[in-house]
Amino acid sequence: ATTLGASAAERGRFFGTAVAAGRLSDSAYTTILNREFNQVTPENEMKIDATEPQQGQFSYGNADRIVSHARSRGMQVRGHTLAWHSQQPGWMQSMSGSALRQAMLNHITQVATHFRGQIAWWDVVNEAYADGSSGARRDSNLQRTGNDWIEAAFRAADAADPNAQLCYNDYNTDNWNDAKTQAVYRMVQDFKQRGVPIDCVGLQSHFTGGSNYPSNYRTTLSSFAALGVDVHITELDIRNAPADAYRNVTNDCLAVARCKGITVWGIRDSDSWRSGESPLLFNGSGGKKAAYDAVLTALNNG
Ligand code: G3I
Repeated sequence: ATTLGASAAERGRFFGTAVAAGRLSDSAYTTILNREFNQVTPENEMKIDATEPQQGQFSYGNADRIVSHARSRGMQVRGHTLAWHSQQPGWMQSMSGSALRQAMLNHITQVATHFRGQIAWWDVVNEAYADGSSGARRDSNLQRTGNDWIEAAFRAADAADPNAQLCYNDYNTDNWNDAKTQAVYRMVQDFKQRGVPIDCVGLQSHFTGGSNYPSNYRTTLSSFAALGVDVHITELDIRNAPADAYRNVTNDCLAVARCKGITVWGIRDSDSWRSGESPLLFNGSGGKKAAYDAVLTALNNG
């Protein structure tokens, strides 16, 4: 096929992008979005500070606009994210203990209920593990409510939207030998063994060029898949967008049956959170880069 989404669909997969609500009025942007992608992730609009800016007062306008744009065009939506240490509204940042735990659970229940039936996958918990060699949880106000906060979040999401697939999402979990990757792997293994409802793992895959795209990435994908969860590449971008690295990532996903799709973290380089690094598949004018051709060819020929 001639577009990313249609080519991925022929391989039983999705090809998506992060979308910013503020860009939906940019016709150059929506032309590429509507032509190329069959999955979207709101870049910021479903985060806690966006959806519950004041405690108990929910705000869904921008998120609803993205969901509506996507679903009216047959694109699947990834919800991002229900529980995270970052982008918490001020009221939540200053909470702790059982009050915070209750506020987190209420947030999950309310937001997952609002979008029930519209979200294919939720990033229920985002970035809960520490970088480096410790393999420990990241310190945060949520972590300090008790080590069971992650499974409590998954159970609340499952109760609110039983048909959504529930994912754990993180970065620097690409190299199979890293302590952080191993720690997330053991958590997912434990959840599967104890029946905590988890369906998928997201590898954000923010790469800084060839250097931290690890040669064992495919092993990481297949190892998580072997636990009985789907695996998604959720926020792909690569410094300077080398075509060979994009090709390899695509082929790694295609080699693992449970790698169900790839989401790039923005459309044009000018839309990227790392816009100085030109990490995406389209240049600022909307033109296809060499990395685009490499991904499209891999999707069609692999
Ligand atoms: O909307 C306000 C605007 O009103 C204000 O004038 C401006 C001034 O700073 O800020 C704007 O908000 C910014 C928002 O992006 C929208 O552009 C925030 O400051 C900025 O912090 C926010 O950055 C986002 C970042 O997450 C925050 O953590 C990026 O867009 C978004 O791409 C990035 O995405 C994360 C994933 O959620 C999780 N994984 C890592 C990834 C990259 O950091």
